[in-house]
Amino acid sequence: MKEWTREERYRVLKSPEEIRDLYERVKLSPYRQSYHVQPITGLSSDPNGFALHKGLWHLCYQWCPWGAVHGLKYWYHVTSPDLLHWTNQGIGLAPDRDYDNKGAHSGSAISVGEELYFYYTGNHRDENWVRTPWTCAAVLEPDGKLRKLPEPLFGPRDDHSEHQRDPKVVWNEEKKTYYIFIGAQTLDKRGCVLVYASKEPLKGWRFAGELKVPGYESFGGMWECPYITRISGKDLLIFSPQYTTLPGRGNSTNHNVYLLGRMDYDSLTFTPEGDYHFLDYGFDFYAAQGAANLGDPDKAVLIGWIGLPDNHYPTEEEDWEGSMSLPRELRVVNGRLRQTPISGVEALRWAEKPDDGILPDACELEIKVPEGDFDLRLFAKADGSGGLTLRYDAAARRCTLDRRGMRKRFNQQVFEVLELPLEEGLKKLRVFVDHSSTEFFFNDGEATFTTHSYPEEDEHYLTHSPAELKLWALKRSVTDEFVV
Ligand code: FRU
Repeated sequence: MKEWTREERYRVLKSPEEIRDLYERVKLSPYRQSYHVQPITGLSSDPNGFALHKGLWHLCYQWCPWGAVHGLKYWYHVTSPDLLHWTNQGIGLAPDRDYDNKGAHSGSAISVGEELYFYYTGNHRDENWVRTPWTCAAVLEPDGKLRKLPEPLFGPRDDHSEHQRDPKVVWNEEKKTYYIFIGAQTLDKRGCVLVYASKEPLKGWRFAGELKVPGYESFGGMWECPYITRISGKDLLIFSPQYTTLPGRGNSTNHNVYLLGRMDYDSLTFTPEGDYHFLDYGFDFYAAQGAANLGDPDKAVLIGWIGLPDNHYPTEEEDWEGSMSLPRELRVVNGRLRQTPISGVEALRWAEKPDDGILPDACELEIKVPEGDFDLRLFAKADGSGGLTLRYDAAARRCTLDRRGMRKRFNQQVFEVLELPLEEGLKKLRVFVDHSSTEFFFNDGEATFTTHSYPEEDEHYLTHSPAELKLWALKRSVTDEFVV
């Protein structure tokens, strides 16, 4: 693994030409995705500024141009008419001001009439490397570029630690007020959310208080990337708690969870109804954020980072890593979140393939699982051994996913085997395979499981116990053009 100096990690990109050769090299990787958004070079992490505005979807990702390393972060901007076909638009936000000199960190967007407003964290560090996180804003210009406001909206609070970032902006119709939710940490290192309010999107912000979440006063050391929305009359709070292990998540200390409940903007209290749930049970899923301005109160759309902080992936050697997940639709059914692949994804199917044991590089599987135990093996070798396995134990109503059989193993010290419970038992599976990721959707979205997967040339076979299985090869839908 390459050791990066701070100078290398925080090098400013002065001209696209500085990364053209890297791009040409990265493009040749067999692990480049064909229908998932991925970094043009270097590292992509959190989705940012995800919103539908005037019929076009905007999405940015945290981007470090130089390699698979967390250093100076940019927002890289992509757009899509349908959440399936994505076009590279180049840098959305560069860390080019004093207040964001060491990174344009994560944030969100809101579409208000003709305007699309972006909110992000300006990660300032002084010469002693002391951090000051500023909450900053930008607006979408008619030429499609993001223009920053000259000054940040507000600075950090000194009654919390330096970890205050990832503004999520929402409009509350009842209060006729905009709110910003900031992921934060108390001085005694507990994860929390700070709330700010304003009547106007770009000025007048005042601190409203720390969000109360009864039962979650001490749940991890930092809550990154908070996201809040309302679906079918229920409030949904998503966040990424860090610096703690959670039952069922191996040695990982980074998680993405959700709570359903009631948000009271008077007392700034989110009262959970029921326990927290993992947003995704897989190895690699984090910092998810949604967009809810779909004109449908029963639905939101969510996208996550296929990857985890502090983890290392095999394409590091090729100087790139990370990818966005397939966008998902969120609904609330019987007090639980349902997550299904984005509707219309069927448009990517270009050929139905026979169930003859060959697994295409980019494909969708749809499986009707008969009653009883069930086994599925993806990326097996010709003799049926190895691969990524899913085993369903019908008596225990539990699936076990195991990636130890793949030749390229990674993050072994964190986890290689995970389990997920299925209240309804396993009936249906939809699986989306791309060149370096696999996403499982269980039943009608009861649970999901996302993992990076890096099959070698001879690992492209599929085996399963008897079941009705349909298989489609999928079309390319992301352009991999050099736009900086
Ligand atoms: C989450 C995170 C955010 C931060 C960003 C920096 O992965 O740590 O809290 O804004 O990444 O890239």
